[in-house]
Amino acid sequence: MKTLLGLFFAGIIAVVQGQSCTTYQVPKDFFFAAATAAFQVEGGAKADGKGASIWDIWTHYFPGVITDNSNGDIACDSYHLYKVDIQNLKKLGVQQYRFSISWPRILPDGNANSVNPAGIQYYNNLINELIAAGIEPMATMFHFDTPTTLSDAGGWLSRDIVDKFGDYARVLYQNFGDRVKNWLTINEPLSISTWGYCGLDGVQAPGNFSMQCPWSKYLSAHYLILAHAKAYIIYDREFRSRQRGRVGIVLSTGWYTPATNTTEDIAAANRARDFALGWFAEPIFFGDYPQSMKEGIASKSTSEGYTTSRLPEFSPLEKLLLKGSADWLGINYYYGFSINNRVTFPYGIPQEQVDGSTNRNVLYPYPQGLRSVLNYASQTYKVPVVVTENGYSDGTGTLDDTIRIDFLRDHIIATLQARQDGANIQGYTVWSLMDNMEWSSGYTVKYGLYQVNFTDPNRTRTPKASASWYTNVIAQRSINS
Ligand code: NOJ
Repeated sequence: MKTLLGLFFAGIIAVVQGQSCTTYQVPKDFFFAAATAAFQVEGGAKADGKGASIWDIWTHYFPGVITDNSNGDIACDSYHLYKVDIQNLKKLGVQQYRFSISWPRILPDGNANSVNPAGIQYYNNLINELIAAGIEPMATMFHFDTPTTLSDAGGWLSRDIVDKFGDYARVLYQNFGDRVKNWLTINEPLSISTWGYCGLDGVQAPGNFSMQCPWSKYLSAHYLILAHAKAYIIYDREFRSRQRGRVGIVLSTGWYTPATNTTEDIAAANRARDFALGWFAEPIFFGDYPQSMKEGIASKSTSEGYTTSRLPEFSPLEKLLLKGSADWLGINYYYGFSINNRVTFPYGIPQEQVDGSTNRNVLYPYPQGLRSVLNYASQTYKVPVVVTENGYSDGTGTLDDTIRIDFLRDHIIATLQARQDGANIQGYTVWSLMDNMEWSSGYTVKYGLYQVNFTDPNRTRTPKASASWYTNVIAQRSINS
């Protein structure tokens, strides 16, 4: 009992064991948030000088790539309704709002010498309104919507984009860094590389699903990592001392559990983790790719005796610059995976065997996996960690979303447990504030705490049961299992 009280007064976590449930107290310095991304909610696709992103082009010119043939032209119309969104955030009581900035709204042709003043104005309005509502902005610089002009010039397969991203980041720091202190450079580079640049794993813009796939996946990831580092270094050198914020990245990962406790399956699960989280986190925190990736991808000798690798190498200088290039880490977690050492990936792609990413087709909700991911990330990378996305989707958008409540409850508890385990976890973010344009699933998949009526020109938002539940958790600062 003494220890329990000690923990409580230390502002850590009090766990009160009742007969049927356990109450978890939320530490004072732990924050709650909700998230969206520009393309998924803003609309205003051509408003006030905005340029096209690859998602504008993808949804309009490639029939059949989006389940319901929809697009993001209006989406939730947050471009016009951002004040309503902020009122809804205020009702939830969240301490932070994670939104993303549309690169082509700020730089219509991707170049920093032609900044769109209306784009700057939009985000100034959003940020100022948030701050006036007492909500701290958490801004993602890039959430999948590459300017088309840059994509046409090679996109994430061209090294030029690293500098372009750095220039873009500088514009953001210059214009918003006085008020935005929580920066996230890139959202889910893993998704961009595996879905956008290796279409066989699923198809997303820009839909590079050619024979280059086994290479483009790793090359795009390489430039995404370097672009992140570039944005970090620019902040460090030009802005940090004045603006005193922090720059991180958002990485997506599952938790990979060995299907059996054989040595092979355990090794396979570790490899799967390396090929998801480690792929990006190890260069950023340690300066290079995980050993298992280097071995898995590089070990093909040709009959001429050459060793070839599809995994690019960082130069010694890049390694130095990369190492420690994040002040904090955002984790997007949705599911657990059961991993075995058999190669039964749906497409039977030989390189999957070479890469050792193994069978990862068994996916399931697994809250304790979030606890494990958070403990792993915090212990391994030794930086503050934030859950930047976690959420539950259904196809109906029903207001009576008790399943979502169960999902969120279990994952928030898992997050608090990780904190109790000693992991440096600072906050939890629900994906998403409202139903929105779910990429290739269009409007058929809904994650929101608020339902959005997409047939109503006013895009009316209605709170679901999960919104009231989340409001309550945030207000009480405690949660019952
Ligand atoms: C991850 C992405 O960041 C977000 O854009 C997406 O909507 C959610 N996961 C759900 O799939």
